[in-house]
Amino acid sequence: MSFLSGFFAKKEGSVLGVDIGSSSLKVVQLRKERDQAILETYGELALGPYSGGEVGQATNLSAEQITETLKDLLREAKVTTKDCGVSIPYSRSLLTLAKLPYRENAQEQKTVIEFEARKYIPVPASEVQLDWFIVPDAGPAGPGDTPAKGEPAGGKKVEVLVVAVHNDELAFLQNVVTGAGLSASFYEIEIFSTIRAVVEEPVKPVMVLDIGAASTKTYIVERGIVALSHAIPIGSQDITRAISVSNNISIARAETLKKNEGMAHGDADTSPPELVFSRIFSEARRVLSQYETSHRKSITSIVLTGGGGVTKELGVYAKGFFSIDVRVADPFAKTAAPAFMRPVLETIGPEFAVAVGLALRKLGET
Ligand SMILES: Nc1ncnc2c1ncn2[C@@H]1O[C@H](COP(=O)(O)OP(=O)(O)OP(=O)(O)O)[C@@H](O)[C@H]1O
Ligand SMILES: [Mg+2]
Repeated sequence: MSFLSGFFAKKEGSVLGVDIGSSSLKVVQLRKERDQAILETYGELALGPYSGGEVGQATNLSAEQITETLKDLLREAKVTTKDCGVSIPYSRSLLTLAKLPYRENAQEQKTVIEFEARKYIPVPASEVQLDWFIVPDAGPAGPGDTPAKGEPAGGKKVEVLVVAVHNDELAFLQNVVTGAGLSASFYEIEIFSTIRAVVEEPVKPVMVLDIGAASTKTYIVERGIVALSHAIPIGSQDITRAISVSNNISIARAETLKKNEGMAHGDADTSPPELVFSRIFSEARRVLSQYETSHRKSITSIVLTGGGGVTKELGVYAKGFFSIDVRVADPFAKTAAPAFMRPVLETIGPEFAVAVGLALRKLGET
């Protein structure tokens, strides 16, 4: 089982991306026609109300509850295929970049990596599924390529991205998929789905901010490869809660206000959206600076994605905050859809980035 990328048997027809987020389920159905990804349907269902909570809030539901919700969503969105790819939450996975000894022989290299990779995963080997990927050489060694502290100099190294997912998490997802009558050919850590859907820059490092309900995921992507990832435990639900408290209104009402007003909500110096985003962005900026310093190169742009990325005027605020190029993700741009739908797809796009990325990979299998 590969969490990175893969190609399976040829198949015809429609495919589905299924994103099980902490606050909502999203599906995107695509079909390939003359090398074009055609958008057939998409849909989202908030999980909050299924757990006695509100729309937009993170949940912790059982596999059975998620299965029931997913069935509802498949029906409501009129999904017509069972063939899908499914996301693994970043929070349930482990990613490490490791510099491991280089071997000329491919089989030997594989053995070395699989042996050494275990040392980077702080759980027993029997409890996780491991996968790895050799990061292509960036060309001539730069100043950043000197051995890290404590690492012996000399001896050629390869850079390897090691990923691990707990068996329990995979069993959980497989339960949901089978229960909902779907058939998944792969489970992919959401980071890779997001990158496929939103990153256009082929060479220079880009920072992706996936602003979810409970947390914000920061990825630095260089030459299409994840160079760094980090989770910030603050998300869009924190804005809703802050609005609810400061205005003394219900969570549901605060959620509506947040969506309607975005960054314009509240007074300039006590605006809950600004307070929360300034905390998220401060931490993201630390991650960014750290990367820039240790790799001696600059990050050229930031892509905002996730439901929080839909926040009105967030792009403008982010541009001011980071003083570099900021773009709000538009994953549906990679799909063909009727022109009249474009404005809507552009607006809601960031929420569906993971599901689009999954469906795009699945299309590659056909
Ligand atoms: N138009 C909007 N304006 C502001 N916030 C929004 C808007 N639409 C959705 N959100 C917020 O985005 C959050 C959901 O984002 P998303 O769907 O990416 O999260 P998730 O995938 O369920 O969570 P996670 O990725 O943390 O598991 C919710 O808190 C919701 O209130
Ligand atoms: Mg998400």
